[in-house]
Amino acid sequence: MPNLILCLSESDIKNKIELLAKKISSDYQNSEVILIGVLKGAVIFFSDLVRKLSIPVKFDFVCASSYGSNTFSSGKINIIKPITSNIYNKEVIIVEDIVDTGLTLGYLIDYIKSFEPKSIKICAFIDKKERREQNIIIDYIGVTIDSGFLVGYGLDCDEEYRALKEIFYLKT
Ligand code: IMP
Ligand code: MG
Repeated sequence: MPNLILCLSESDIKNKIELLAKKISSDYQNSEVILIGVLKGAVIFFSDLVRKLSIPVKFDFVCASSYGSNTFSSGKINIIKPITSNIYNKEVIIVEDIVDTGLTLGYLIDYIKSFEPKSIKICAFIDKKERREQNIIIDYIGVTIDSGFLVGYGLDCDEEYRALKEIFYLKT
């Protein structure tokens, strides 16, 4: 695949997830937590992360759309699939694949806040700094990168590449 350049190998990903899982497990030792995965990109990260946690957790999922069919944010965000559990007065962690402009997560945080959980924290596998428009406090970060469009490990370009085991820079 000549247009793909390796960014994170399977073992890089595994190591980062183990660190995240350790930290989350220790922070939430004595509380009940609901993880809310952001579909579709975070699905693979979510499933790897939860299986490394040493605490019991509950799952929910939300789907927000922010991208059209190219590598630039459309700027318009909609909730395509709402959460279905009762998160009132519960500890919530939003699990996202990648934060780019921050607009999607900003919107999702407001959406989740409207259900009045006890706390909301953010876990993102990749914090991509270059195009940030909205300042988001990310409590748990797997990896920080400056720029570039990434695919694989759940991340897509026009729905392609999601099932790759590693993360690649997509040359455009
Ligand atoms: P944001 O609203 O610009 O922060 O974008 C958030 C969403 O855009 C992420 O949840 C991803 O689904 C998608 N996205 C942002 N950057 C990338 C990338 O480099 N590769 C694939 N998807 C991306
Ligand atoms: Mg996403």
